[in-house]
Amino acid sequence: MTALNETAATAPQVDPNKLMNFVFRAVEEAGAALKCALVVMGDRLGYYRSLADNGPSTPAELAERTGTDEHYAREWLNAQAAGMFVAYDAATGRYHLPPEQAVALADETSPAFVGGLFQIAHGTASDAHRIVEVARTGDGVSWGDHNADVHTGCERFFRPSYAAHLITDWLPALDGVVDKLTSGAAVADVGCGHGASTILMAQAFPASTFLGTDGHAGSIATARERAAESGTGPRISFDTAAADGFGGGPYDLVTMFDCLHDMGDPIGAARHVREVIADDGTWMIVEPAAGDQVEDNFNPVGRAYYGFSTLLCTPASLAQPVGLALGTQAGPARIRDVVTAAGFSRFRLAAQTPFNNVFEVRP
Ligand SMILES: C[S@@+](CC[C@H](N)C(=O)[O-])C[C@H]1O[C@@H](n2cnc3c(N)ncnc32)[C@H](O)[C@@H]1O
Repeated sequence: MTALNETAATAPQVDPNKLMNFVFRAVEEAGAALKCALVVMGDRLGYYRSLADNGPSTPAELAERTGTDEHYAREWLNAQAAGMFVAYDAATGRYHLPPEQAVALADETSPAFVGGLFQIAHGTASDAHRIVEVARTGDGVSWGDHNADVHTGCERFFRPSYAAHLITDWLPALDGVVDKLTSGAAVADVGCGHGASTILMAQAFPASTFLGTDGHAGSIATARERAAESGTGPRISFDTAAADGFGGGPYDLVTMFDCLHDMGDPIGAARHVREVIADDGTWMIVEPAAGDQVEDNFNPVGRAYYGFSTLLCTPASLAQPVGLALGTQAGPARIRDVVTAAGFSRFRLAAQTPFNNVFEVRP
């Protein structure tokens, strides 16, 4: 009796208004989860492209132009309008993409393009059932074992940002690196995925040579195809190799784009970079934007990255030997610990965007 009374006395009071507010917020989140698949659908069926090219459209017009069934076009448009990605004019019954949304959803060359972000998010969520299993055992799921939307979505998410910042902002922020690349340098781009960063650098610096490496053979095969299409020729090559074992050197510049935290043994990789980098070389590490304290990352960007960290990056690291699992939101202090443990003596934050921290690391 006493215990029951004490429980009743200390039980927190539920405020019905706060409860309903939370339920509506949760409904919004469930709508956002479905929206992820709907954006991928619109991207894949050419709905956004068609709306951007043709202006205000009826469901029948959109369906006809994209060769799709009108029932699906109508429901998709209404879902988009309810979620405020597409605007609806009740007077005309037409739907259109406001100019800003047209850039973000239909212009793949813009740094604001979000189609790739939704593709990698959708691909990641599609494999979440596997993460439920390994969360019980502590095993991992390697990068290469995910579906192709993860790999291609990653490329489409990051490439526009690299195209906007790498050559004009990030490399110039590193001490003396642009001069070396201009006169002819040896570069290793480690964990290069589909090679977007490697190809952008090769196109910008024709006197330099570039080796892109990645542990995932499928990504390297795609990188070779992309390089062949880019016309960069023999100055660029790709190898399937782990970050703690790629060949060649000494390198004037080693780069790692959004991959150090995915590695099982980032300190082992850092030690290998220390072995193959020239004495006056530079290691550029591009990592997801993050602060050192978890609460620094409780914002929209951190929210998305912690989602990727749980479902993609942490399992990728745990699938490899050591399994350090830095997490997608490691923050500068943790990255500094990794590189100093491997014998590097200089570390600084050289540049930042809302999505990335760019570190300069030197022997
Ligand atoms: C998030 S993706 C980034 C790919 C690419 N750098 C980009 O920015 O588009 C991470 C990449 O790191 C690679 N990776 C993870 N661990 C690795 C390791 N130990 N050695 C080499 N590559 C690794 C994965 O295969 C994947 O291609």
